[in-house]
Amino acid sequence: MPEAASPHSSITFVVNGDRRTAGVPSHWTLLETLRYGLGLTGSKQGCDKGDCGACTVLLDGVPTLSCITPVHEAAGREVVTVEGLLRGPGDPHPLQTKFAEMGAAQCGFCTPGILCSAAALLERNPAPSRQEIKEAISGNLCRCTGYTKIFDAIEAAADELRRADSAPRPRDEGQHPADRRAHAHEGEAVGGTPAKEVLL
Ligand code: FES
Ligand code: FES
Repeated sequence: MPEAASPHSSITFVVNGDRRTAGVPSHWTLLETLRYGLGLTGSKQGCDKGDCGACTVLLDGVPTLSCITPVHEAAGREVVTVEGLLRGPGDPHPLQTKFAEMGAAQCGFCTPGILCSAAALLERNPAPSRQEIKEAISGNLCRCTGYTKIFDAIEAAADELRRADSAPRPRDEGQHPADRRAHAHEGEAVGGTPAKEVLL
């Protein structure tokens, strides 16, 4: 007997600053929607049961295990994946730069989740202690690095962000990504591009 088609429903949310609408199977998780619906494969599918942190994304700024989050919990909310940490085309987040420079990523499977957890930490605490860094990424497992280089890279990125924040900014500089995301919430097109419509 042919398998019954799974029911689909439509979800609208903000992903990396763009308002997106996706028609997805009702039982899908946020991770499945990001990876297989929207093609955002930065978030990794590791254990797929909430144990490893490889799937961590930011949901309204809070690190969230997308593999155990039903996609409908993201409706009307803001999701940031590792792809969304970029400041702009070819302009990586200082965390991404420091991870690359300091050997904090080896196989890299854990890296997107750790970057999201660390970005949320630095957003709320620009000068975290090493203990606070350990606690912030305690849900992200890494089997390669031994963690020391990861802690070092997060500290170095925090230093760089603090230096950048204290430097004067040109008045005509482009909008900060957080401002762009706020406008997306208000229904405006972001960066002059129309909101994208994705139907599966
Ligand atoms: S893939 Fe989500 S916690 Fe492991
Ligand atoms: S770099 Fe390989 S799991 Fe962390």
